[in-house]
Amino acid sequence: MQAAVRGRQGGATLMVDGQTESGTATGHGKASRRAPRDGRGRENTPTMRAIVQSGYGAVPEDVFWLEQIARPAIGPGEVLVRVRAASVDAGTLHMMTGIPYLIRLTGPRGPRNPVPGMAVAGTVEAVGQNVTGLERGDEVFGTCGGSLAEYARARASRLARKPANLTFEQAAAVPVSANTALQAVRDHAHVQAGQHVLITGASGGVGTFAVQIAKALGAEVTAVCSTPKTDLARAIGADHVIDYTREDYLGGERRYDAIVDIAGSRRVSHLRRALTPSGTLVITGGAGGPLLDGIDRNLRASLLSPFVSQKLTAFVARLRQSDLLALRDMIESGTVMPAVDRAYPLSEAVAAVRYLTDGLARGKVVISL
Ligand SMILES: NC(=O)c1ccc[n+]([C@@H]2O[C@H](COP(=O)([O-])OP(=O)(O)OC[C@H]3O[C@@H](n4cnc5c(N)ncnc54)[C@H](OP(=O)(O)O)[C@@H]3O)[C@@H](O)[C@H]2O)c1
Repeated sequence: MQAAVRGRQGGATLMVDGQTESGTATGHGKASRRAPRDGRGRENTPTMRAIVQSGYGAVPEDVFWLEQIARPAIGPGEVLVRVRAASVDAGTLHMMTGIPYLIRLTGPRGPRNPVPGMAVAGTVEAVGQNVTGLERGDEVFGTCGGSLAEYARARASRLARKPANLTFEQAAAVPVSANTALQAVRDHAHVQAGQHVLITGASGGVGTFAVQIAKALGAEVTAVCSTPKTDLARAIGADHVIDYTREDYLGGERRYDAIVDIAGSRRVSHLRRALTPSGTLVITGGAGGPLLDGIDRNLRASLLSPFVSQKLTAFVARLRQSDLLALRDMIESGTVMPAVDRAYPLSEAVAAVRYLTDGLARGKVVISL
């Protein structure tokens, strides 16, 4: 499905021969990522431990490794975050594999930013020019370019103060996944109290937030997931749970006011049959062939929508501070809580990605620093 949320920030600042540049990973040319050294071979810029990716591949162990690289430099409007926790998600996997292949248009031989991860929680280490409202030591969460590192560069406009009732690990589970869920449920499905809503991929990163947000808006929620995760779907508040390995979730009598389709690859025509005549389908994620990985389904829905009574839509999530603030309110009032499955240290980030790749994750997988 969608590779990355729109507005992904550019590459980490790397140092090459003493010059800063926006990094492009080119094979295993590790020398280009090392911190620069003076004439005696001593490092002369602050460095950090970071997960670095070179090239694309399906096997996390082949693609990622831990390395000491230069800390990112910040510019006007940017913040240097001392990362306390980060999280991995389907976007991390898309960038790892380079699938859908459309991703490779922006980086044919590897991601433009060799440090993976977008979701971050940490403390402000330094602020750039023109940044107001944040200062050193503030606890923040949000999105950045390259969160699987000890320090990350973030636009101030993509950070907000961390919810007071969350640990850094919990807070790092929120950005990207919860933003996507909020936009799917609130902005695209326009879920209202009393509506019947079907959510696929309900046990995943986006889905666990989508279920809770739809419940917070007063909907009656049917969650779709696999057998080992049905207890999680109930625990986060789903009214009904369908195990898709045993039952066709589109085959029953029930018609839904909204379907938030986060996982699977069901045809648009089949999804439509489970909608009320004026219902809304929001394709948020899903699977498909390597070239488009389901994007063709999005296009089909959007092209068909003007000609049918139902609203059929797909979207690419936007990274907005206003959404972080709305989510923080929901979290602090106790209506939404991140479902964190596991936390791994940075040195075991590859195992975290492997856990996600193997489809074992229940909710969010976090990296703790
Ligand atoms: N539109 C956007 O801007 C946007 C933003 C973020 C993410 N996404 C997309 O949203 C999707 C979910 O992302 P995520 O981070 O939540 O991933 P995730 O944490 O890996 O969750 C995906 C879930 O899909 C379920 N699943 C796998 N195969 C399935 C199938 N055949 N039928 C039904 N459910 C299935 C899995 O649960 P079970 O084990 O229970 O099956 C898993 O929990 C991805 O496709 C991602 O690209 C889109």
